[in-house]
Amino acid sequence: MAIGIQTAAYLFASILFILSLGGLSSQESAKRGVFYGITGMAIAILATIMGQHVHGHVYIISAITIASVIGILLARKVEMTSMPQLVAILHSFVGLAAVLVGFGSYLDPHTHTLQGAAHNIHLTEVYIGIFIGSVTFTGSIIAWGKLEGKIRSKALLYTGRHAVNLILLLITIVLGVLFAQQEGTDGLLYLIIMTAIACFIGVMLVMAIGGGDMPVVVSMLNSYSGWAASAAGFMLGNDLLIVTGALVGSSGAILSIHMCHAMNRSFISVILGGFGNAPAVKGEAKTIEGEVTSLNHEEVAALLKEAKSVVIVPGYGMAVAKAQYPIYEMVQTLRKAGKNVRFAIHPVAGRLPGHMNVLLAEANVPYDIVLEMDEINEDMPDTDVVMVIGANDVVNPSALDDPASSIYGMPVIQVWKAEKVIIMKRSMSAGYSGEDNPLFYKPNSEMLYGDAKDSVEKILGFLKA
Ligand code: TAP
Repeated sequence: MAIGIQTAAYLFASILFILSLGGLSSQESAKRGVFYGITGMAIAILATIMGQHVHGHVYIISAITIASVIGILLARKVEMTSMPQLVAILHSFVGLAAVLVGFGSYLDPHTHTLQGAAHNIHLTEVYIGIFIGSVTFTGSIIAWGKLEGKIRSKALLYTGRHAVNLILLLITIVLGVLFAQQEGTDGLLYLIIMTAIACFIGVMLVMAIGGGDMPVVVSMLNSYSGWAASAAGFMLGNDLLIVTGALVGSSGAILSIHMCHAMNRSFISVILGGFGNAPAVKGEAKTIEGEVTSLNHEEVAALLKEAKSVVIVPGYGMAVAKAQYPIYEMVQTLRKAGKNVRFAIHPVAGRLPGHMNVLLAEANVPYDIVLEMDEINEDMPDTDVVMVIGANDVVNPSALDDPASSIYGMPVIQVWKAEKVIIMKRSMSAGYSGEDNPLFYKPNSEMLYGDAKDSVEKILGFLKA
């Protein structure tokens, strides 16, 4: 393929990627956004493998075919609840690819003919690319392990960890200077030592981050993987990879900042690996006062029949139970009976950004009854019944009034301000953060124990009876 055509194809693919990001910004246009993304990627791959200096097409096409089959099988099999883990492990592949491209590019005899500034720039690209790639690779594997429950989600904190990280970073810089002074491939040993250090930094950074901050970590690793791809683009002299990597890198960083705002966390402290992860005030958490009371399905149905205004707060448990379909059926029944029924969505409910919105859209819930936390909080005092379905941390009042709680400062849906709160879950166990929830003990709260789907179906039965 002529260079001009390839450049045009790359430009077109870049435009499609930008349109794709634009499309993904709202639920109505998300499908179109995904379509733009797939088309852009198909054009990008075709234009790259048909490039002038590309050989070994049989190997490339075989690798793409095998990888595509694995990808399709995995994506079809993965549960919605395991999506963050899948995303994390895919980020690790991007990191690993950047590391391999870096070593390949350093050992490539063609790059040794570069002289002067071009030579130095090339070595810098290789060094930085491998560094970011290594941090992304191991950090993503740890994030996968934490999300999958293979590694405990509590933050691993030790005294002096920031000093250790800083010293490692300084060693990396010194190694980089030594590396840049070597001829040919003589700097390989420095590169290998730096890779090992960067892999260790990746592990320690994510190990130091607690479960409550995991959503930010996943999107931050998404951003790192973008920068790693961009660095690989510089090494390979591939403009499209540079642009695409920068798009992924910056959009991931913007998403992380938004999520930090939603959780009242400092962005810098999260990405520095748990800096300020400790509660605002050291000491015992507040003692929870009150008594836990519960209702049965028939009693909940009776409360709903009486109510004029109902708010449903879904959480991770709704995803686990796949309760969104009967929930929407229940909502339709209540709306037909003239009740004002709305959903309240917390920005980090579930396990990935937009998790609840995706599940509700899957069940065809209309967008106009799905409200964001900020929109619904002011309506809480005028709400008769709130149904908290499989949510826990996102409705925990300790986030507002207990400085010793690890989630203190995170904005939450203030369900306790409603007249009655029904909490539907299987037991009294804590949510993702591991914090107890004083909501369960409030005088206007009632527990309804059991699997969310099963409970909603039973309530529906009583509502229809
Ligand atoms: P959680 O606080 O994790 O609480 C979910 C609750 O669902 C659990 O307490 C569990 O209680 C209940 N549950 C589980 N399976 C159930 C089932 N089959 N039926 C009924 N209930 C069930 O969830 P949340 O309120 O959505 O908060 C999300 C948390 O995850 C936050 O701490 C957030 O920071 C974190 N996080 C979020 C993300 C993103 S981006 N959304 C990513 C990673 C982590 P039982 O065991 O008693 O049933």
